[in-house]
Amino acid sequence: MQSEIRKRLLELFSHSETEFISGQKISELLGCSRTAVWKHIEDLRAEGYEVNAIRKLGYQIKSKPDKISSNEIQLGLETRILGSSIHFEEVTTSTQKLAHKLAYEGVDEGTIVVTEEQTEGRGRLDRKWFSPKYTGIWMSLILRPNIPPTSAPQLTLLVAVGVAQAIQEVTGIEPDIKWPNDILVSGKKVVGILTELQAEPDRINSVIIGIGINVNQTQEQFPEPINNTATSLSIITGKKIDRALLLQQILLHIEKLYLTYLKNGFKVIKLLWESYAINIGHQMVARTIQGDIKGHALGITDDGVLKIQSDNGEIHLIHSADIELIPK
Ligand code: BTN
Repeated sequence: MQSEIRKRLLELFSHSETEFISGQKISELLGCSRTAVWKHIEDLRAEGYEVNAIRKLGYQIKSKPDKISSNEIQLGLETRILGSSIHFEEVTTSTQKLAHKLAYEGVDEGTIVVTEEQTEGRGRLDRKWFSPKYTGIWMSLILRPNIPPTSAPQLTLLVAVGVAQAIQEVTGIEPDIKWPNDILVSGKKVVGILTELQAEPDRINSVIIGIGINVNQTQEQFPEPINNTATSLSIITGKKIDRALLLQQILLHIEKLYLTYLKNGFKVIKLLWESYAINIGHQMVARTIQGDIKGHALGITDDGVLKIQSDNGEIHLIHSADIELIPK
């Protein structure tokens, strides 16, 4: 209820960005007392909103915080499922860890966990994921699709396409996807995706998809050894990116793809994924737990598995690996 009033309050201001709205008018429109309005304004200030208050004129939001909060995510969010419930933490160990706990406790599909800072951000293969304060998008999505556990890797590819589409829309950058889950710009990593399951042998309880995006870091902010291999959207565009807007677009794009996938299967997603893929046709080394496989990528199967043809003509199906592209 409280958060519903807050959402409507921010909506009022979003329609009249420079205008003042009187306390009386706000209380009428929101159906709450003027004291309650004042209390909400104070809460906004505490969250970093700069609010002007002038007697006889009322309130005006002068600037929004450069922060992501549940409010910022909710306001203008056009999805039906993703983000229907938002768990926001200013700082947490890992959104993935928290999402696992919530999924186990039975939260609804579409619940997202978002934070401003992770102290123990996790990447694939138990690597660390660098997640400093106020610069990135660190979030985990909880989905409960009725698909066999073996099809779950398709969701990683789906999410990569959704994130790539949103980045393109918000920043104008055309990103590349490196199988299975890295999003690169000019050969440097901007996004990592980590898909984990809570499942029984034949049934998925939940899929927890962690998305980490380097948005507003400067190059100096990346520590060794990733400062040579990682970049941020802001470094590439030379502009500060609105993280809440990007996050909303990501949810919207992923949701559209997800609904298409549940209805029509992986075919369309596969085509879209291939349009962003940089692996296909490339020479590469796939580092798998069974050893390295060198060859060129033929494409992905209908299940999202990578097909590599090694130099002796043999075809390998790669389910999980680290990929190193060999420059042409
Ligand atoms: C990768 O290794 O490329 C995957 C990185 C995934 C990082 C994200 S950030 C949000 C979520 N929480 C985590 O601890 N990891 C994922």
